[in-house]
Amino acid sequence: MKRWQAVALAALPVVLGILFIIGAFADWFPLPQGQHKATNAQSEGQSGGSDGVSSEAKQLVSAQCSSCHGADLKGAMGPNLYDRAKALSKEQIVDVLKNGKGAMPGKLVSGKEEMVAEYIKSLAK
Ligand code: HEC
Repeated sequence: MKRWQAVALAALPVVLGILFIIGAFADWFPLPQGQHKATNAQSEGQSGGSDGVSSEAKQLVSAQCSSCHGADLKGAMGPNLYDRAKALSKEQIVDVLKNGKGAMPGKLVSGKEEMVAEYIKSLAK
């Protein structure tokens, strides 16, 4: 074996190792999809977690309000909540939630009116 061949052979694992490390950092080797999704879900969970109140309100609203106001809250039998959120103050929304209005029943989210009203108001932005 010639000298340069021996050197090349000895260097090969080192070069492969370096390539692998660079590759791993550069994300050349596709990670299994599940892992990518897991990290995404985790970071979404964290941003949602820091705002736990509004995510609870969001769930309440989609459970209690979408039947009349539409799954996207943009109006069905009840009016578009994005529009109403612009027109009403938070206090007025709390009042509607407590006492109802017209065909809309009150007490749908008993005790959570403030939180839900805040969430509805946030739709206006
Ligand atoms: C049974 C059907 C129904 C459900 C359930 C319902 N609404 Fe309504 N909602 C209505 C109707 C009908 C109106 C229009 C009332 C009117 O102006 O006479 C309305 C009006 C409103 C208004 C506007 C009030 C105003 O003064 O213009 C808001 C805000 C509102 N609803 C929020 C909610 C929220 C939040 C929920 C879930 C907690 C909810 N609604 C659930 C039927 C419903």
